[in-house]
Amino acid sequence: MGKHDSLLKVSNLTRGFGSGETRLEVLKGVDFEIKSGELVALMGPSGSGKSTLLNIVGGLLEADGGSISMNDFRYGMDSPSKVVELRRKHIGWIFQDFHLLDHITALGNVAFSLDLSGFSAEESEKRATDSLKRTGIFDRAEHKPDELSGGQSQRVAIARAISGQKNLILADEPTGNLDLSSAEDILELFKELCHDKKNPISILMVTHDPHLASKADRMLLIKEGKVVASNVDTAWEDK
Ligand SMILES: Nc1ncnc2c1ncn2[C@@H]1O[C@H](COP(=O)(O)OP(=O)(O)OP(=O)(O)O)[C@@H](O)[C@H]1O
Ligand SMILES: [Mg+2]
Repeated sequence: MGKHDSLLKVSNLTRGFGSGETRLEVLKGVDFEIKSGELVALMGPSGSGKSTLLNIVGGLLEADGGSISMNDFRYGMDSPSKVVELRRKHIGWIFQDFHLLDHITALGNVAFSLDLSGFSAEESEKRATDSLKRTGIFDRAEHKPDELSGGQSQRVAIARAISGQKNLILADEPTGNLDLSSAEDILELFKELCHDKKNPISILMVTHDPHLASKADRMLLIKEGKVVASNVDTAWEDK
């Protein structure tokens, strides 16, 4: 797939919560595309629907209306149980608090998730090793999470997210628990991963930090239930 091919296309997505007088329409017709190899920052005020949007794109929450296409998959309003294959094959997640298993090593954390995807033990270990090398943390492979800094832990989580050759990584405030310098390092790593010509991935990353967002290839802003293209200045105004 070339760099300019569309990977993800989101069309007229809607989603609300509750019913009657307490009904809240969060997403009111969201449209955007992400190309293969793009790092895209998603911004918007607290409660604007960033996590909701990520969960729908990730196939963990059904939309009320609209559609999403990614590779050969078309989804959006489907229940999470209908899009297991899409999630397993194509989508990796990264979270603010890393979600690593405490009692196993960095290598074990990555290998375990590959085991669950159906790789043999030998293949899992080989792929886990490659991923930890790609994210620059292989020197800590035998350490457990409580022996790693926040930035190091996030590198392990990123290795896990990319380890199954996923096309799209969804990252909900991945630098929220990191100091600025570690956060900038993670952004640099994201760029390297996205711009790797041999094996490009795309990343959709939620951040509250306009400085970090400005380092992405492109910024999107959720505004009154819609997604609009943004630049740093308007992102500041809307905070
Ligand atoms: N399962 C749910 N049930 C009811 N309301 C929900 C549910 N999930 C989200 N909401 C509401 O939808 C709105 C958007 O929430 P969401 O978590 O997507 O916002 P966000 O942009 O990620 O905010 P933050 O920046 O604080 O993480 C909020 O008003 C929230 O309370
Ligand atoms: Mg959120």
